[in-house]
Amino acid sequence: MLNQIEDFIRDIQLASIEKSADRAAFAEQFRIKYLGKKGVLADLFDQFKTVPNDQKKEIGQALNRLKNAAQSKIEEFKATVEKSEQSDKRLDLTLPTDYEQLGSRHVLSVVMNEIIDIFSRIGFTVAESVEIEDDWHLFSALNFPPDHPARDMQDTFFVEKEEGRQEVALRTHTSSVQVRVMENNKPPIRIIAPGRVFRNEAISARAHCIFHQVEALYVDKKVTFSDLKQTLLYFAKEMFGEQTQIRLRPSYFPFTEPSAEMDISCNICGGKGCNICKGTGWLEILGCGMVDPNVLESCGIDSKEYSGFALGMGVERMAMLKYQIRDLRLYFENDLRFLRQFEDIV
Ligand code: DAH
Repeated sequence: MLNQIEDFIRDIQLASIEKSADRAAFAEQFRIKYLGKKGVLADLFDQFKTVPNDQKKEIGQALNRLKNAAQSKIEEFKATVEKSEQSDKRLDLTLPTDYEQLGSRHVLSVVMNEIIDIFSRIGFTVAESVEIEDDWHLFSALNFPPDHPARDMQDTFFVEKEEGRQEVALRTHTSSVQVRVMENNKPPIRIIAPGRVFRNEAISARAHCIFHQVEALYVDKKVTFSDLKQTLLYFAKEMFGEQTQIRLRPSYFPFTEPSAEMDISCNICGGKGCNICKGTGWLEILGCGMVDPNVLESCGIDSKEYSGFALGMGVERMAMLKYQIRDLRLYFENDLRFLRQFEDIV
């Protein structure tokens, strides 16, 4: 009998209510099991009557310990039940949850994706390439004369510039992707190359050492300047609205001949003249032209059989004109007050 009592005491000490789904019911069952009318203690006290006198003292003490253990465990369970009932009352499952602050796309990504989207609708696919580029892909294959200012130390971040070795630099424009695509693919080629570019410029409201460009290239048989114009008009209307007009001004780029710069009618004053378009009614948007035959030949494409057009634009400038952002530095400072203004434009 003594052993039996000790076993019950151990069971009581190990009993736990924590993992029970219905704590109140668990506590009540526990009480009935030990202290109920037909419970363990009632049964043992019954048996106690038949215990020989010389064992009564020892077994009586053990029974008292068992009773105390059961009572204090029941008190402990009651306290736990009360506590969890109180916290259940505080937990209102019908309340709305805390608002989780979600991140959003950066305005440059949004604008870049929009440009990609517009061009992909007319069959252009995205091409990407390296940001650290050699002289051939950055300048030489693109028909830059050896003394062209773009090769100058003031413009370009050189990674390697040693006498007699191929120069390596952070790419100053995404036109280098044109070269890589033409070297590795046969026409027809219709690609758009978005990416980050680097120039050795002092940081100000109007210039930054890191910015983004999107380049487009189309090479096939009989590609003409009118294909370029039509593509530009389509792009301008999709990007800035149906009412947008374009104009082309003759320009110069080493890799295109003829070259042009495209302006759009000012989307802020509608062409009347304002401080954004400096009173002219026009905004400069991008550079473009027919791919110079020298460039095609440098990339292994027969310039007698094929012709092409190319265009390149700055993403920061597009975003600036679309959302009237006045200072380039804002794009890179990650000030939440700036970023949150574009949360809904995805
Ligand atoms: N690569 C030129 C720049 O960084 C932009 C450009 C102008 C790209 C004319 C072109 C183009 O493809 O035809 O300023």
